[in-house]
Amino acid sequence: MIVGKLAGRVRAVGPLTLSAVATTVVLVAGTTLAAALDATRVAVCLLALLVALAVAGVLRVNLRLLGMRADRREIRDLRVVLDQTQRRVVSAVERQRLDTEDRHRELADAVARVQRIADRGVRDLRFAVPREVEATVQLFQGFTPRAPMPSSGDYALNPTDLLELLFLVRSRQPRLVLELGSGTSTIWLAYALEQIGGRLISLDHDPSYANRTRSALREHGLTGVAEVRDAPLAPVELDGRTYSWYDPAVLEDLDGIDFLLVDGPPAAVGPDSRYPALPVTGPRLADRATIVFDDANRKDEQAALERWLATVDGLTRPGEMLGRHAVLLLDRAGSEPNGLASLNTVSS
Ligand SMILES: C[S@@+](CC[C@H](N)C(=O)[O-])C[C@H]1O[C@@H](n2cnc3c(N)ncnc32)[C@H](O)[C@@H]1O
Repeated sequence: MIVGKLAGRVRAVGPLTLSAVATTVVLVAGTTLAAALDATRVAVCLLALLVALAVAGVLRVNLRLLGMRADRREIRDLRVVLDQTQRRVVSAVERQRLDTEDRHRELADAVARVQRIADRGVRDLRFAVPREVEATVQLFQGFTPRAPMPSSGDYALNPTDLLELLFLVRSRQPRLVLELGSGTSTIWLAYALEQIGGRLISLDHDPSYANRTRSALREHGLTGVAEVRDAPLAPVELDGRTYSWYDPAVLEDLDGIDFLLVDGPPAAVGPDSRYPALPVTGPRLADRATIVFDDANRKDEQAALERWLATVDGLTRPGEMLGRHAVLLLDRAGSEPNGLASLNTVSS
């Protein structure tokens, strides 16, 4: 056990230190012996060796101390680098966590929005389906079409709006109807006018839709009642602003229009696309006319309605909006020279 302990200590002290101690012991013993034997020279030599060994020991200790100081500096530098790296890693993880939270919140908001829209869609559908079915049944009770009727989906007037439109035509008995934007409504209007002896002119800016409506009119044998005119979009200037609207030249031969259906041009052609309808056709309207303005629930159309009502004498909106359309009445008989005449400043 003692031997084991000694061996452990020897390992801890190191072989170089042990041999230095052993050499020192030998040199001290040798010096002492030489001095005792009066061998002065040998004793001085051994003493010199002893001093040299001590100096070497001191130098070695100094070197080791210097090495330890350098090691400490390196350890300090390493610790600084480690701290910086740790801080960087922590802030990167935190940033990532915040980003993930933001993404998660955005996703949850989007899901909630879609859910709200879907809920509203389902609610609207629950009311719209029976309403449109009822309107469709009533529409077909008024006519027996001579060919399959085109669909009233997509861009066309809804059955509810069509039903109200045809009711207005039957009750007002117009002689000349101008429709802005042809389609399914052209066929329904033509059937209604056939019954009461009126005439329909429908404008379309798109030749392919104009042709489609013309061929439907032919299939239904309604070409004697209704005509579709190609009316390419042209720049129309009103009160210093330029709109893209049907070329007014196609209206030149029309006078006494007593029913106007505004359902074009589509919003896609530009902002306030339907505002010019009344200012441009105004001078060609009869003194008493009915105006049906579809899509009156949209922002641009509402703005146009308000501007018309504010600027055109004799123009009123007698009722609330029905379906998606608004009904306006123009009665210039007896009213002062009105806004429509003053709006006759159209150039294209
Ligand atoms: C609102 S739509 C007119 C619809 C028509 N008054 C009706 O109720 O059937 C206005 C214009 O859009 C164009 N249009 C019609 N159907 C379309 C469709 N499915 N896609 C894109 N444009 C269409 C035609 O040029 C039409 O004159």
